[in-house]
Amino acid sequence: MAQQGTSDVLDPTPEAGSWTEREPAVAPDGGATLLAWAARMREEQPAWRDGAGRVHVFRHADVQRILADPATFSSDTVGRLSGGEKQAPRGTLLLLDPPLHGKMRRLVSRAFTPGLISGLEPWITDLTGELLDAAPEGAFDLVDTLANPLPVTVIARMLGVPVEDRDRFQGWADQLLSTDPEDPESVRRMEETAVTISAYLQGFIEALRKEPDGNLLSTLVGAEVDGERLDDEDIASFATLLLLAGHITTSVLLGNALICLDRDPDLFARVRADRSLVPAVIEEALRLRPPFTRIERVTTAETNIAGLDVGTDSLLYLWLLSANRDEQVFEQADEFRTHRANARQAAFGHGIHYCIGAPLARLEGRIALEALLDRYARITVDPEARLAWHGTNVFGARHLPLLVERT
Ligand code: HEM
Repeated sequence: MAQQGTSDVLDPTPEAGSWTEREPAVAPDGGATLLAWAARMREEQPAWRDGAGRVHVFRHADVQRILADPATFSSDTVGRLSGGEKQAPRGTLLLLDPPLHGKMRRLVSRAFTPGLISGLEPWITDLTGELLDAAPEGAFDLVDTLANPLPVTVIARMLGVPVEDRDRFQGWADQLLSTDPEDPESVRRMEETAVTISAYLQGFIEALRKEPDGNLLSTLVGAEVDGERLDDEDIASFATLLLLAGHITTSVLLGNALICLDRDPDLFARVRADRSLVPAVIEEALRLRPPFTRIERVTTAETNIAGLDVGTDSLLYLWLLSANRDEQVFEQADEFRTHRANARQAAFGHGIHYCIGAPLARLEGRIALEALLDRYARITVDPEARLAWHGTNVFGARHLPLLVERT
């Protein structure tokens, strides 16, 4: 039977109707305005060209169609938008097109098989316990205590670098994520960070060439594409991608699951009483609050999207946030329903670039939520806290102060 839930569309800020140049931000209202805008656009202008010439796509069917057609809709935004002057490093899977994409993805996909990922469960459970042991009694910030260090430490471990270095990884990830592509100073700092990460990994790469250890970094060091070894830049760029793609997203997922539960006390009580609902809660949190609000593609030919003619080399913003609330696919789409069919939710993308870390993210989310429920009889988001939100492309709070009571 379908379970009813509450809607999380709060009151948008008054200017919701006045966006004509570009999209609203997640701040200051936590996404209410952005969601109201996306709903209106889905209805009225399912493909919309903004003031800077970018084309925004809102409906589930259009987003899926585009993601299923990498020949017309390229991921190589760096190469195509620089007129071929720049080239994405070969480790940046997200920015590669076939056939190179398939070759690079095959190299790393064996580190992400469901079997290998579920083998990490006992270790991730212990790590989660250790992180929560360090939490102060009564009140703590979920992001600093658990949601950030957990995925960073897991990625460090998968790569095979010392987990004690996780604070450095955390700092680099924060630096990369705070990059503002329109601010040259910020872009310069990002490039500096990429060089620092590369230099850090260099030491390990050299040692692994002499003595492989079976971890992901070692696999990459030994790998060949078209008969050629990956170079150090390829390897460093892949490690950097994992750090970026796997860290903030998983962190935000956990915060978002807590936000959804906090807003719906009946749901929270039901999940507490029936732990088998935890995976469905994670899935519904991903649907309603996808960590990446949108992903990008660039056209390789003239095309038409939802009635709008689009020229070659146009940058597209594909709104996963909007696709996931499309009533054509999800009935009562704004409601949190633990029993809905969710296979088509788009938080992990679709097609050849479908998130390689999805099983890991789901596992981490489940373990973390279970651990919180085990440890605390009561968890609320501090009602006095004013939440600070990430930028437009990440849907979540930068910090989540919780008030807790031990079981
Ligand atoms: C809730 C957590 C996560 C979300 C919402 C998420 C979301 C996404 C999305 C939407 C894409 C597709 C991007 C595109 O098509 O342009 C993607 C790709 C990717 N993700 Fe995730 N991700 C998550 C966790 C992770 C984790 C934990 C890892 C690894 C440690 C990871 C590694 C990757 C990689 C390597 C790609 C590129 C795959 C390719 O291009 O073939 N992600 N992710």
